[in-house]
Amino acid sequence: MEDRLIQERQRIAGDHREVGYYEQAERWMGGFWDEGSPFPPLFDQLDLTTVIELACGHGRHAEHILHRAGDITLIDVNETNIAACRQRFAGKGRVQFIVNKGNDLPGIADASQTALFCYDAMVHFELIDVLAYLREIKRVLIPGGRALLHVSNNTENPEGTYSQNRHWRNFGSLVVARHFAVRAGLRVLAHEVIDWSGEPALDAILLVEA
Ligand SMILES: C[S@@+](CC[C@H](N)C(=O)[O-])C[C@H]1O[C@@H](n2cnc3c(N)ncnc32)[C@H](O)[C@@H]1O
Repeated sequence: MEDRLIQERQRIAGDHREVGYYEQAERWMGGFWDEGSPFPPLFDQLDLTTVIELACGHGRHAEHILHRAGDITLIDVNETNIAACRQRFAGKGRVQFIVNKGNDLPGIADASQTALFCYDAMVHFELIDVLAYLREIKRVLIPGGRALLHVSNNTENPEGTYSQNRHWRNFGSLVVARHFAVRAGLRVLAHEVIDWSGEPALDAILLVEA
């Protein structure tokens, strides 16, 4: 089972080394940041003193919040993405960069972060890795620290592979993510099922507190 999981994780990571997506995504920020989006009211409940962006890609969201944040740590499984962020943020703000294994927050001290967020990425991850990250999030957040996670709510094709699914949503579920969060020792503060690109209830947002 572990080998299959590693294979899937590596496949997802490999599919996100292509640069075309990142350039296009820079032009599509509104879904996350515009008035009327479900994300900002929850994002505004984060204390950005020490904040991690998990699965940062080329850093479009980090750039957007840089002026509001204290210390930012950008984490991604792909070295190429972290290299792009190093270049993008050279000399700007207090930004650190970490390449991880795909289910961990290496080099982050216990109880050291006020916030973590992850947009447009966990929707693709293996559900087992979402659980692993929730446990890591509980470890690194200070008591009262919060995490805002954009997760998959696609319960179709449980035996399949994410790339077979609508918008590359992996098998996932908001109710399962809420359960995992609580078992990881986190408190669920808010949760909402959302539509994605016209697909009803495909995604969800989860705000948790350590
Ligand atoms: C669709 S991109 C989104 C990037 C960024 N969050 C954004 O919205 O622009 C998905 C990101 O997840 C990263 N990724 C894929 N699998 C991962 C994993 N298991 N752990 C951490 N990052 C991962 C990819 O390298 C990529 O940066």
